[in-house]
Amino acid sequence: MKIETALFRTSALNLDACPPSRLPEFAFVGRSNVGKSSLINMLCGKKELAKTSGVPGKTRLINFFEINKAWSLVDLPGYGYAKLSKVAQHEFNQNVSGYLTGRDALKHVFALIDSRLEPLDGDLAFIEWLYTCNLPTSIIFTKTDKSAAGTVHNHAKQFLQCLDEWQIKVTQSFTCSAKTRSGRNEILQFINRLLPKQPRQSQRISLGWMTKKH
Ligand code: GTP
Ligand code: MG
Repeated sequence: MKIETALFRTSALNLDACPPSRLPEFAFVGRSNVGKSSLINMLCGKKELAKTSGVPGKTRLINFFEINKAWSLVDLPGYGYAKLSKVAQHEFNQNVSGYLTGRDALKHVFALIDSRLEPLDGDLAFIEWLYTCNLPTSIIFTKTDKSAAGTVHNHAKQFLQCLDEWQIKVTQSFTCSAKTRSGRNEILQFINRLLPKQPRQSQRISLGWMTKKH
């Protein structure tokens, strides 16, 4: 799929503040600093569309990006940001879970996992929660440029095995690097398959002709 346009639309604190849902949405969730915003920029081919930072906790709001005037990418605040107070963490989690469970336009969730790490219970528990909410979810293992291919492969395998043991089903899994852009085509093709089919140009023209008054 070609990205013709990618525009920042708006930010919202919580579900109530989200704009009316006109287009299908694809949300990126995961631990703080896992690479959600960087992946969105990589997919869109725009370096600074979503704000990124080496310091965890950069994305604090729910950010909407409109792609090709047809669908939206949603960048969510990360979980597990240790520097926040317990109250602030709770509020953060409430805002993210409110969006995930209450948003009609949400079509698919991409749960990002750091490919450098062995499976973390916190990540598994989060994906289990997505599963219990019946949210269609795929896994993306991020930052693959930072480890040897064998390590990435082993960590991904271990993680998917844990999901199996926890009896959690996910739709698909991907690996990606925002640095080398690997995984970009696969993820965009996957999104494309989930989008409502547009009538082909020739069909549009003939429909226009049929409705024309003579
Ligand atoms: P929060 O908004 O804090 O939840 O973080 P995030 O998940 O949006 O992470 P972000 O995209 O801001 O990236 C965090 C850091 O990891 C930044 O310094 C990025 O440059 C770096 N990073 C993200 N993806 C990759 C990657 O694929 N490869 C490498 N080498 N660095 C990456
Ligand atoms: Mg971010």
